[in-house]
Amino acid sequence: MLSNLKAQAPDKILMLIEEFKVDTRQGKIDLGVGVYKDAQGLTPVMRAVKAAEQQIWESQTTKTYTGLAGEADYRNALTGMIIGDGWPADRVASVASVGGTGAVRQALELARLANPAVTVHVSDPTWPNHNSILKFMGLPSVEYRYFDPETRGVDFEGMKAGLARARKDDLVLLHGCCHNPTGANLTLDQWAEVADILEKTGAIPLIDLAYQGFGDGLEEDAAGTRLIVSRLPQVLIAASCSKNFGIYRERTGLLLAVCENAATRDLAQGSLAFLNRQNFSFPPDHGARIVSTILTSDALRADWAAELEDVRKGMLALREQLADELRDLTGSDRFDFIAQHRGMFSRLGATPEQVQRLKQDAAIYMVGDSRLNIAGLNQQTVPVLARAIVDAGI
Ligand code: LMR
Repeated sequence: MLSNLKAQAPDKILMLIEEFKVDTRQGKIDLGVGVYKDAQGLTPVMRAVKAAEQQIWESQTTKTYTGLAGEADYRNALTGMIIGDGWPADRVASVASVGGTGAVRQALELARLANPAVTVHVSDPTWPNHNSILKFMGLPSVEYRYFDPETRGVDFEGMKAGLARARKDDLVLLHGCCHNPTGANLTLDQWAEVADILEKTGAIPLIDLAYQGFGDGLEEDAAGTRLIVSRLPQVLIAASCSKNFGIYRERTGLLLAVCENAATRDLAQGSLAFLNRQNFSFPPDHGARIVSTILTSDALRADWAAELEDVRKGMLALREQLADELRDLTGSDRFDFIAQHRGMFSRLGATPEQVQRLKQDAAIYMVGDSRLNIAGLNQQTVPVLARAIVDAGI
């Protein structure tokens, strides 16, 4: 039976990791997968995470099952971080998920349970795995314009025209901050216009919030999401702790369903727990417990937020440095968008051939659509990349 299986197309982002590993060239630079790296090229365990793990190790007396929806402490603390303290508890259903990807998948399953005819509107471009999951689930999807290849900013007129085509009870998948793969983000005024369109169409926003704290700050990066929650009766939010807590492999995420009233909230909560049970039963707990330990301790929370802020500022400094180098080398401001983008990624706007040239000639790896991971750079490699970008004719 298993011999009937078809070969699956490899994930383009994950494939790069393997290609990079076997490249024996000195000085190779990995700007592929979205993982934070410090100046030494390491992905450190954050101080507060280590401290929380120690506390858990010392105090935990059992590893018996958690609740099907995950621990309430975790869900409540993270919900506050995302939609702000004072969130409407009687309207919010939540479930711990297997990473941010698990939350996206679960959100789509929940939407399909509620509306079997759901169509999902996704930004063009979006994280490739969004499209891959949608295809795998057989959910119809439609792209809305998002990126302007000329300015490397948001094509907001195109986006609005696309969103206006959504129907009632369709899903509109939005990136809460730090758009992946482009790095181009909405202003708060633009979020307000998006809310207007969602109100008018009756489509439901599904906000993928995978990089809170990596763009303009923890609060600032949640501002668009909070605005949507304040304006719309129903909102789905898929959040990830992989990046901002640096706990990638612990698979720690949360799905929130903000509902119009308490009765619908109860229905959503029951369906979310049911979906967990069908898919994997109880959600992973270790990462969730790290997060709740940090968020509910003033000292650990402050230390974690300070370290996250250092990470964010480090990425911003690298953005500035790269834009400066390219301004010097090209005598033009056409790469200034790199300093304006936010989060881990920027889309350079290079052709696949140019991206290939960077790999072949300079051992610089980035995703084929010319998405580069800023956090894969350091002060020494920025000039190397800038030179290679110019040499590749980008
Ligand atoms: C990325 O876009 O590189 C990250 O979200 C990691 C992943 O799983 O693709």
